[in-house]
Amino acid sequence: MRVLGIETSCDETGLAVYDSEQGLLSHALFSQIDVHAEYGGVVPELASRDHLRKLLPLIRQVMADAQTTKDQIDAIAYTSGPGLVGALMVGASVGRALAYGWGVPALGIHHMEGHLLAPMLEDRPPAFPFVALLVSGGHTQLVQVNGLGEYTLLGESLDDAAGEAFDKAAKMLDLDYPGGPQVAKLAERGSPGRFTFPRPMVDRPGLDFSFSGLKTYTLNTVADHAGADGLPDEQTCADIAHAFQEAVVSTLTIKCRRALEQTGLKTLVIAGGVSANTRLREELEHSLEKIGASVFYARHEFCTDNGAMIAYAGCRRLLAGQSEPLAVTVRARWSLDSLPPVGTDGAASGRP
Ligand code: KG4
Ligand code: ZN
Repeated sequence: MRVLGIETSCDETGLAVYDSEQGLLSHALFSQIDVHAEYGGVVPELASRDHLRKLLPLIRQVMADAQTTKDQIDAIAYTSGPGLVGALMVGASVGRALAYGWGVPALGIHHMEGHLLAPMLEDRPPAFPFVALLVSGGHTQLVQVNGLGEYTLLGESLDDAAGEAFDKAAKMLDLDYPGGPQVAKLAERGSPGRFTFPRPMVDRPGLDFSFSGLKTYTLNTVADHAGADGLPDEQTCADIAHAFQEAVVSTLTIKCRRALEQTGLKTLVIAGGVSANTRLREELEHSLEKIGASVFYARHEFCTDNGAMIAYAGCRRLLAGQSEPLAVTVRARWSLDSLPPVGTDGAASGRP
């Protein structure tokens, strides 16, 4: 089965062609960073308009790169939520319209399910069951994954997502959007031990997270060391970035280990933009080795938003027999654990 995947949930237009026999045949991504950079964050209306501009040329490009004609496409998978409604509508309506015109089924995919399955595109894929840490700009969740669509939420952030915290810390340090990679880069030059930031909620039982206190702590540290231009000197900024990143990484690591111990599982999958963070990967590898568990993640470009993960998730669901009515459905909010396992009656639509 060959599937065209379309991702337009936020500020990246991602396309891919995935084949169940041959694997990933092509993928392309257009990042809108330049469109939004001057506003310091994503402007939803501009995002929708840019998806509209880029979608058809990128579809042509991935089809050509995969040496695939429309007759060889068996289905179309598009991100149906959660995300920005206008942006989602662009991918959903183009996906549905193309599928209708080409006489093939289309399937709306949960964006976070796409992230969660992305490590399966790698040469050393994880096997079910596992614990997944989903860490993106909008989500920080620990999920027990027993199979495709068999998701139980173990814990989540009560306030900011980890990626959002990175983005806000970046703003405080006057770094460009998106902030995660910039904070990580600056942190490399930081001196370990100059600052120690709090590890939120690690002393409490349970698997929930909270990053808003850490955000305030960062803001106060920046203010305490600010010079005339409102910013600390360069080295202090790097030291703050370092302390902030260490606090997020060790908080996530402690909770991942706790989730594995609680569930008795030995496999951790990390997915979403923050899973590209090198310190997080290192720390998890180091910590999980001690309990005989291992961590799996996608290559860097498939940690952040991309079309390959949507094509792959669509292919798995279609092969498992899922189908959907013709309506174009998108949703800004959509809980992952409301997805039914595939192969059951409810899986016909994937909707509650
Ligand atoms: O998954 P993603 O591309 O989009 C959402 O679904 O939200 O995640 C984007 C988030 C942003 O907050 C970005 O700052 C963060 O992932 N991010 C990182 C890194 N790369 C991306 N955070 C920390 N370290 C990174 N290397
Ligand atoms: Zn995402």
